[in-house]
Amino acid sequence: MECQTAEAMTTPMVKGRRLPDSRNESGRAKMRPAHEARAIGLQRLMASSVGAGRRILETATRASSVLSRPTAAMPSSTRPITTSQECRTVGLSSPPQVSARKSGRRSSGSHRRGAYTCTAMSDTSAGGRFSGQVVVVTGSAMGIGRATAIRFASEGAAVACLDIEQEKNEATAADASALGAQTVALACDVRSRAEQEAAILAVVERWGRIDVLVACAGMYVGGPLPDIPLERWDDLVAVNLTGVLVSNSLVSPIMIEQGRGAIINVSSMAGKTSWPNSAEYSATKSGVIGVTRSAAMELGPHGITVNAVCPGNTLTAMVRRVAAEIGATLDMTGDRWLAMRAEDTALKRLAEPEEIAGVIAFLASDDARYITGQSIGVDGGLILS
Ligand SMILES: NC(=O)c1ccc[n+]([C@@H]2O[C@H](COP(=O)([O-])OP(=O)(O)OC[C@H]3O[C@@H](n4cnc5c(N)ncnc54)[C@H](O)[C@@H]3O)[C@@H](O)[C@H]2O)c1
Repeated sequence: MECQTAEAMTTPMVKGRRLPDSRNESGRAKMRPAHEARAIGLQRLMASSVGAGRRILETATRASSVLSRPTAAMPSSTRPITTSQECRTVGLSSPPQVSARKSGRRSSGSHRRGAYTCTAMSDTSAGGRFSGQVVVVTGSAMGIGRATAIRFASEGAAVACLDIEQEKNEATAADASALGAQTVALACDVRSRAEQEAAILAVVERWGRIDVLVACAGMYVGGPLPDIPLERWDDLVAVNLTGVLVSNSLVSPIMIEQGRGAIINVSSMAGKTSWPNSAEYSATKSGVIGVTRSAAMELGPHGITVNAVCPGNTLTAMVRRVAAEIGATLDMTGDRWLAMRAEDTALKRLAEPEEIAGVIAFLASDDARYITGQSIGVDGGLILS
């Protein structure tokens, strides 16, 4: 779908067709179906809120067109989808006729570019603080992101899980569904603006709103300054910083339209302070705090809070891998290195992912509605020692 003229750019396009005029013969405003109105609002907001409005509008229109097929074909949320055969997958590259799974594999082996997989669905939400709310979590396949998705599901939210590791991501969504939540697992590489855009559009097509964004996808690399290859730096920045910036920018027009929302960006204590051999990681996590502060100022007038959480060492696959790598250079086991890091804290232990998820949920809750622009250390007293 191409918009050839300026007029075409401002005329609402939904699911690949021009919408009928919003007035009837008598000149009175006609009510549009809610999903069309939402799509128009989203497309207008995306077009107006981003400098490259034309490109975004075209992308949004194309993605909306493609995604309309599986959405329309998707069973109602009253019927649980329980088998992989019932899942729908679409490609998002142009032209939009792509229907088979595209490979687009990354090193993980399980990421499908633009894949859109619906996992088990239920129309019963668990009730709780986030009942009726829609939460998007990036980096939901493992660790802190996974614990966060499960936490929101346990408190009644519908949860969209976005991750590059789609098989593990589907497992997170399935576990969240088992708690009675509505979930969707979306394969998404946060380095790709197009993939994030398609995922956000899929969420809005499905549920019509986004109340909470948790930008958690991230990775760690480190090493001495002279050994930092620029390619590694570029990749880390793309995941840890650009990925966060893009997800914040994509959900903000939706939250502005709603007049409410909460964004929680996952930074690190390495963003507040620094250690040797972690210049790259520290820089990206400091950058996340900068994005958070500025976004809080920008979005605050619209009723949206933006905060960062800064975990200390948390027992996830990431930290165990780092521990093994650093331990090897120091001639000690990873467990020994982790035990030493526990000694650095006031509480003399490392965090569990669920403890970070609890703080994230608090920041998204009504109890935290007057907290914004903050970077909350969740580090067991790490920098007290
Ligand atoms: N574990 C810690 O000690 C610790 C401390 C401070 C901050 N953090 C931050 O917390 C966040 C989660 O870390 P974790 O410890 O749970 O790590 P993890 O490796 O267990 O999980 C990271 C998740 O991000 C996903 N991911 C990575 N690259 C991606 C990409 N390009 N697109 C989409 N998804 C991608 C991974 O697939 C994985 O599911 C990260 O931002 C990390 O920097 C972790």
